[in-house]
Amino acid sequence: GMVRKPAAFISTISDERGSELMYSGVKISEVFKSEMGIGGVISLLWFKRRLPAYCTKFIEMALMLTADHGPAVSGAMNTIITSRAGKDLVSSLVSGLLTIGDRFGGALDDAAKTFSQAKDRGLTPREFVDEMRRANKLIPGIGHKIKSVTNPDFRVQVLVEHVKREFPSHSMLDYALAVQSVTTAKKDSLILNVDGCLAVCFVDLLRDSGAFTPEEADEYIKIGTLNGIFVLGRSIGFIGHHLDQKRLKAPLYRHPADDIFLGGLEESRVLAKG
Ligand code: ACO
Ligand code: LMR
Repeated sequence: GMVRKPAAFISTISDERGSELMYSGVKISEVFKSEMGIGGVISLLWFKRRLPAYCTKFIEMALMLTADHGPAVSGAMNTIITSRAGKDLVSSLVSGLLTIGDRFGGALDDAAKTFSQAKDRGLTPREFVDEMRRANKLIPGIGHKIKSVTNPDFRVQVLVEHVKREFPSHSMLDYALAVQSVTTAKKDSLILNVDGCLAVCFVDLLRDSGAFTPEEADEYIKIGTLNGIFVLGRSIGFIGHHLDQKRLKAPLYRHPADDIFLGGLEESRVLAKG
């Protein structure tokens, strides 16, 4: 019979070959007829399944909440500086995106992993915090540069209230809030931050929506899905900052010299031997 040439590519999320574009087997006309929204489209293209309405609503909420946090955060700064250097939208956007990582906006997957493993191992919140401290590790999803117990992050409050009201169960969120009680007792700024809060709520969603097996839930965290939520959400803000600078015709930026301490400028002497 026919010998089929082995495919060099495998792809499983969308198909444009027929008369109608399909997202994970769902026709684009059905995407609109069912009013699944951007949360529904993400559930098809990222998770390859239709998720219950409370999940797609939560995905949309996560995107809206992370869309921007002002011009002073590292990513927006990068985007603005790049834009003011005369660069195009894509360059300005990726320059901002490249700051997303362990410290800024990219702590979600690690937070999901770290909190869920601690809870699954039966550690009390205090044991978890102590263990991380002994290992000399920062807890991903904890801490903020300006938000604190006395200056709370309203985004986190909105999320917590929403999830407690709308989710069938929220045991990871409850655990993370108990961890926050331990860390904030040590230092006011060691709150459960937006990354951490979104992460544990997504663990509750992945584990308890009935849409995923436990293995699938772990796999989605392992492959970096949750950081994708922040990347996608904050892209909205970065594009906004780029357009804002273009609209303002902002000139090339140069940092004020009096805001930079120049030190250690003396010649380093290296003793050449022999
Ligand atoms: N876990 C345990 N201890 C912490 C943590 C943490 N996550 N974060 C800070 N601390 C401790 C520090 O060890 C330090 O202790 P010390 O005073 O005994 O030396 C103290 O708190 C202050 O630490 P700083 O590094 O000065 O805190 P800063 O305010 O500069 O850092 C940051 C904020 C970067 C968010 C930090 O808390 C952190 O790295 N957190 C983990 C990563 C994370 O969740 N990032 C996402 C932030 S939210 C977002 O970007 C949308
Ligand atoms: C953000 O959403 O960008 C932040 O929480 C980080 C910050 O420092 O405001």
